[in-house]
Amino acid sequence: MGQSGCGQGHGNGSGVGANLTYTKFLFVLARAEDDAHGARLRTAGGNIARGFFNDFDIDDSRETQVQPFETIQFFVRDGEAVEPAPNCVGPCINKARHLVQVSSKYRPRLQEIDEELRRRIGDAADVIAIDGAVRTPRYSSPEMVHYTNKGAPPRRSGRISRNAIIMPIRKTSEWWQKSPLERHAYFYPHIDRASACPVKGHAVAAERGIASLYRRVYHNPDGYERPNEFDFLTYFECEDDAVPVFDQVLLALRDFHQNPEWRYVQEGPIWRGKRVLRW
Ligand code: HEM
Repeated sequence: MGQSGCGQGHGNGSGVGANLTYTKFLFVLARAEDDAHGARLRTAGGNIARGFFNDFDIDDSRETQVQPFETIQFFVRDGEAVEPAPNCVGPCINKARHLVQVSSKYRPRLQEIDEELRRRIGDAADVIAIDGAVRTPRYSSPEMVHYTNKGAPPRRSGRISRNAIIMPIRKTSEWWQKSPLERHAYFYPHIDRASACPVKGHAVAAERGIASLYRRVYHNPDGYERPNEFDFLTYFECEDDAVPVFDQVLLALRDFHQNPEWRYVQEGPIWRGKRVLRW
């Protein structure tokens, strides 16, 4: 399981958080971008989408009502692959032009889709799969929920909220060795131990994003600190105007003077693209 062995337990069954829903991101890295690959992808996409609710045309009313059991969302990368930052860890998801996300409460169903996609695409492409799980927030008090939800946009259709940004993240073993209560403080305004100065903390440093970024944090369903795996997959949707806001928020979060939590973050490559109805 790759756990830290520090006695606090971060995996499933530790009482830290139960997986509520599962998700799987399938990044498709084509060996050759020719017509045959495009046609194969479109057919494969059409086939795996059967029986899933397509999130492209979601509107906010659904989020507050009954969630459909299984959902799918297709994406296509913006422009050419951007070289990841030198300190970047993990697989090169930024090289994938096509991406699909499937979600279900039943995890084996996602594995079936993974296998079906690979089978249909054949050896024309490589597929990188990253799994995630929705969990109840750990560090959020009712006040925090009020702060982060007030003025936050509802989830919108991909026709309006066209942009998707996905960033996998690992946290260092130093982070996981801290007590849960100590970790908690990093999300709130607090006094930084290293500098003895007051700092904004994660939520206030990211405040600018509240009004325009629809965000999700998916947890590694199998636990944290697993070798060669990410702990979290962060997911954002926004309208075109808000793309620069995401970049500003990321810069603020990376600034240790505002957000010391990032001392313990190892970023994976960022994938940026558009939500599409189909490939
Ligand atoms: C570049 C944008 C952002 C990234 C990459 C990011 C990343 C993350 C990650 C990885 C976590 C999980 C950390 C952990 O459990 O140890 C997290 C949690 C959190 N984020 Fe962000 N975040 C971003 C923007 C925002 C924004 C705009 C807000 C709103 C103020 C926000 C508020 C929170 C809160 C309150 C939590 C704690 C959730 C809980 O209670 O478990 N974040 N974020």
